[in-house]
Amino acid sequence: MPGLFPAVLPAAFEVRSPASSANLGPGFDSLGLSVPLYTTLRVTPQTRTEVVPLGPDLEGTPADESNYVYRAMLLTAKRAGMTLPPARVEIETEVPLARGLGSSAAALVAGIVAANELLGRPLDDATLLDVAAREEGHADNVAPALYGGIVVATLDKLGTHHIRLDPPAHLGVTVLIPDFELSTAKARAVLPNEYSRADAVHALSHSALLAAALATGRLDLLQHAMQDYIHQIWRAPLVPGLSDILEEAHKHGALGAALSGAGPTVLCFHDTRHETHPLHAFLSSVMKRNGLEGQILDLPIDTQGTLIRTL
Ligand code: HSE
Repeated sequence: MPGLFPAVLPAAFEVRSPASSANLGPGFDSLGLSVPLYTTLRVTPQTRTEVVPLGPDLEGTPADESNYVYRAMLLTAKRAGMTLPPARVEIETEVPLARGLGSSAAALVAGIVAANELLGRPLDDATLLDVAAREEGHADNVAPALYGGIVVATLDKLGTHHIRLDPPAHLGVTVLIPDFELSTAKARAVLPNEYSRADAVHALSHSALLAAALATGRLDLLQHAMQDYIHQIWRAPLVPGLSDILEEAHKHGALGAALSGAGPTVLCFHDTRHETHPLHAFLSSVMKRNGLEGQILDLPIDTQGTLIRTL
């Protein structure tokens, strides 16, 4: 049954959602931060639906209603009990795909926020996060994509709950983005179904310490708190050089290192008051040793999350 149609349609608008790095070591499926690489939608209400992926990175993605962004828009309308008005939806992204930087979360969140805008904002922010987290299956990429900053989030049958933290002063991110893709499905398939109590206690205590260290600016504790035995050891065979970086990056200026999301990108924290040349030189040597190509970027943590701008 068709739902309610909005009484008034907005003028053309743009929605911009950031990339994200999930897990940060032991915060598996529950902790992430956003970085300023963006997926942008331009939405123009009109009499028919048009889905227009733009740029070489989106070549091959569907240019019709089966597009992931458009499906996110339909999902949002369904949750609001409304009918999505037709619109031209242009999609652009600078988030590298299948690299562990939350490209699908940025697309999903941008689509959800765009649909909510088109519908006259029937859903509040908490519901938008819940729609996104349920669709993704975990909240650690979608929550930072929506809110920006560093976000701790849980998803269970009672809903999605989160706390957003402003990044501590002087905390910057260095990412090594390898040139190869790794699907999240493949990187989840290598994980065990069960863990020992010792592993569970290790993960609980380290992720709690990590969240507390990030909340209180204890950059000195990151290296220790980011230890993880839940996912990185299992994924290391899929990401050449990961083990070397986890073990040695702190000797070259990193405050801590982790596989970004399901990989293959690797994230290192750095102190923005210090030069990152030694860390870059180390990461380049790891790439060379492992026959990898890729790029190394210093990025701040995005604090704005998803933004809407009238065109
Ligand atoms: N927490 C997720 C994982 C992030 O590590 O599989 C990728 O979606």
